[in-house]
Amino acid sequence: MKMFNGYFSLLALASTAICATSAHAAPDMQALAEKSGCFSCHSMQTKVVGPAFVDVAAKYKGDAEAPARLAQKVREGGKGAWGRIPMPPHPNLKEDEALQLVNWVLSAGS
Ligand code: HEC
Repeated sequence: MKMFNGYFSLLALASTAICATSAHAAPDMQALAEKSGCFSCHSMQTKVVGPAFVDVAAKYKGDAEAPARLAQKVREGGKGAWGRIPMPPHPNLKEDEALQLVNWVLSAGS
């Protein structure tokens, strides 16, 4: 009986780990985006100061280099892709956080 319990708690642990990396990735990114202030200029569906994230996703669909390029742009700021308003730099974001956020943005609407 003892062995059974061990087995089931291992299973439970394993499924928690899977959830953390797949199913619940989106809400975590939403929280990081909120914390990072992205939504003061962006929203998922409509243009605010910056482009809607669904529009960004559509624009770079199939562009294999977009994630790295956009992650750098989020961290360093930039302008010219959507109009004359620049996006300010976000130097507090770590490189991998910026990349995760951008991958999440690029998956918007799909
Ligand atoms: C102060 C306003 C502001 C904030 C805050 C902001 N953005 Fe932007 N963002 C913009 C503007 C304006 C553009 C359009 C820039 C351009 O035309 O090249 C943009 C463009 C983008 C793009 C597309 C870039 C391109 O070259 O097509 C992505 C991706 C993006 N933002 C993600 C983010 C993320 C993630 C955050 C939060 C960490 C964030 N933005 C925070 C204003 C903002």
